[in-house]
Parts: sequence; structure tokens; C-alpha cells
Amino acid sequence: MDLQTLQHEAASRTGLTVTRRDVERVLAALQRTGDVWKVVEYSRTPMRVVCALLDVLQENGGLTVQGDQLVFTAEGQAFCEQQGIAPFTTATCPTCEGRGVVLDLLGDIRERFHTIAQQRPTPLRQFDQGYVTPEVTLARVAFLWERGDLVHKDIIVLGDDDLVSLALALTRRPRRVVVLEIDERLVRFIEEQKAAHQLTALEIVQHDLREPLPEALCGRFDVFVTDPTESFVGFRAFTERGLLALRGAGSAGYFGLTHVESSLKKWRDIQRFLLDYGLVITDLRDGFNRYVNWGYEADMRSWAWLPVKVPPRDMWYTSAFYRVEWVEPQEIPNRPFSGNIFEDAEAATT
Ligand SMILES: [Fe+2]
Repeated sequence: MDLQTLQHEAASRTGLTVTRRDVERVLAALQRTGDVWKVVEYSRTPMRVVCALLDVLQENGGLTVQGDQLVFTAEGQAFCEQQGIAPFTTATCPTCEGRGVVLDLLGDIRERFHTIAQQRPTPLRQFDQGYVTPEVTLARVAFLWERGDLVHKDIIVLGDDDLVSLALALTRRPRRVVVLEIDERLVRFIEEQKAAHQLTALEIVQHDLREPLPEALCGRFDVFVTDPTESFVGFRAFTERGLLALRGAGSAGYFGLTHVESSLKKWRDIQRFLLDYGLVITDLRDGFNRYVNWGYEADMRSWAWLPVKVPPRDMWYTSAFYRVEWVEPQEIPNRPFSGNIFEDAEAATT
């Protein structure tokens, strides 16, 4: 067993780019936990690659399965020591869980939003849904507020599984909050909450983001917020709509991007796409978004890859929260995206 063999074997089995650092990160995570879902979280490596590496390690005698736990063999341990790969460690701030914001600005909105979130509809696999905890949604609002992207601003939310539009509107600080959502259950739910809390600045539009952005919404907003589906084409569809909605220089966008379904190569492609469109990445907070287990784990395509078929006990799916700002606005095409925009080779949760 050597690192290069592990790397090449995982690459050839998945057809994906696998780096030496990916292998090192998985080995570091395995020294810390035997929970396969935690290995995915700690390693910050696409789930497809993690699972392929676990298979190869098992075949090489570096890893065994005991019950629902992954256990490093003496050989596996010795290999890490010999390669100088240390166990994964954390130094995350326990107060903000690494997000860098506290929720004091939000006052009693916090409690009201928690009550709203308890009544929300359950996620649908059909739309690749999976939502963040209410604390994360509130942290996003606090973060926008801190960055000057909330008070007196016109904000568009593209897809709102996370109920960001409601949390934003509850602050009563934005001038306008428009939410585009495909799922009619969510549309109805947000409408009901708008009425119940008299959120006059909030507008809800049922819309499929594969379709061009309605002309009336183009160039009318200071800020967009979205949590795109993770395929590159899906990411493009969501963010291009977000950019089309913006006024221009000085406007800002927020979105999530995970490691679970996106290699660092995809991250680089996405960052290049953003830079090419004249944006600068002002903030990148990895691990900011934590997702509630959505309940359809055993139906995900990644279930078949798992070396131990055990449902996740704790939250495991995280994503980075990005803020971008438009420095040199470029022309954005308002084109339709057809077909399945949710899947690519790295997709795991569809
Ligand atoms: Fe902190």
C-alpha cells in the first residue's frame, strides 16, 4: 500500500480527479472517527471519492468494518505514521461554531423564526432539497446585516428551502425581499407565514430556475441569496439568475458550496467562472452551513457506495458560505437550462 496507489485506484474506479491531499485527508479523518458520515465531513472530500478510498483500503487490509464502525487495522495505523499523516483535529470556536457571527442583532426574531421553522414542509428528493438548521439561516441573516447587505436593501432569494426570505423579512430592515421557489408546498407555506406575520416587504413567486429570469426582476436587486444544487450546470443556472437580478457594480451575492459533492477542481472551475464574470470573493466561510438529515438517505445514489449501510446519526452534510461582490459587471445570458441540472459525476445526494 502506498499513497499513489490509493490515489490512482480511487481515480480509476470513480473516473474523478483524486489528489494526494484527498487521500491524506481521508486517512486523517479515519484516525479520528469510525463513523463513515463523519469521515465524509472531516475529510472535506467528495463522498464518491471517500467511499472508493474506503473500499481500496479494505481490500488492502488497512481497514475493517466492525458492526457499523470503520476500524483502522494495525497496518493502516502504521501506514499513516510512516507517511506522517496526523489525525484530523478541530479548533472551531464553540460559541459561533466557526461561522464568525453571533445572533444578538436579531433579538426576538430568533425565537419567532424557530417557531416558524418547526412547521415547515419536509424536504423533497425531486428538487434535491435539504435544508440548514434554523440557527444557520439566522446566522446568514446576521452575516448579511454585518456586511451591509440587509438594511434598506432589495434582496432576491433564489430557491428557499432554508426559509431565508422569511428570516430576512422578519427583521423588517430590507426594502424588498423577493423569493423565487419551485415547490408549491414551500410557496404556500411562505405565503401563510407572510400573512401571519404581516411581512409586507416580502413577495413570493413560484418559478423554475431552469427557466429564464422574469424580465421584471432583472437588474432590480442589491443582493442575491441562493443555495444552488451542486452540479456545475446547476450552480451556473442558479448564480447566473442571481447575477441577472443584480443592479451592477457593488451588488453582492451569497451562496453555499460543499465538498461532499464538489471536488476542489470543481471549486476552482466555479471560482474561475465567478472571477470571469467580474466578481470578487470577499468572504468564504467553510462549514458555515449545516444541514438537517433529510430522511431520504437510503434513496440517495451514494447509499450504494457506502461500505457500511448505516443512516447518519448526527448532522454530517456541511457547506461553505460564500459572499461575492461585483467589481466589473459583465453581460449575463438569460438562457434556459434544460434537462436534469441536479446531477453530475460527483453528485451524491440526488
Ligand atoms: Fe466564534
